[in-house]
Amino acid sequence: MLSVAVLISGTGSNLRALLEAAEDPGYPARIVAVGADRDAAGLAHAEEFGIPTFVVPFRDFASREEWAAELGRRLDDIRPDLIVLSGLMRLLPASLVAKWQPRIINTHPAYLPEFPGAHGVRDALAAGVEQTGASVIVVDDGVDTGPILAQERIPVLPGDAEDTLHERIKPVERRLLIDVVRRIATGELDPSAHP
Ligand code: GRF
Repeated sequence: MLSVAVLISGTGSNLRALLEAAEDPGYPARIVAVGADRDAAGLAHAEEFGIPTFVVPFRDFASREEWAAELGRRLDDIRPDLIVLSGLMRLLPASLVAKWQPRIINTHPAYLPEFPGAHGVRDALAAGVEQTGASVIVVDDGVDTGPILAQERIPVLPGDAEDTLHERIKPVERRLLIDVVRRIATGELDPSAHP
């Protein structure tokens, strides 16, 4: 059974989908902890499912490195097989990434390498593209530059705003994430085999 720690910043709807998937006894992964960089609304999902939560508030630390050192200590205590960044709106420093690579994955609401960064949905709309997408990647020390594990195209519809487009992307992100975690757990997908 693959043990998974999930890190979030926001509402955690993708986290919730993973929690629901992991309730199925046939699903080969379990969520063992959910952490956040702030008092994120999504922590309530973990609490509802009886999963331990922790917060390492970014604002309480003088630097990203000090924040990440504390986050790293928490993760060392939990010792998950896999870390899922599911809407964590912070860049992890290279030292933390190097320690866990390739066992940290991230979901992204665009078809990488198109539209990396914090505003993937907004940037796709601004570019006027006819289609964008959703991706699941291995985290490396760049911004959404790691190896792509799964991705799917999603059309941009006339009249789409950032929120409507994002709400159509998220269900695809969830499906891809649940499937990637399942395939990593069964050994069907080896994140280290993706250069
Ligand atoms: C997702 O689109 C994720 O890829 C992005 O932020 C969103 C998280 O949504 N970085 P939620 O918190 O799971 O609802």
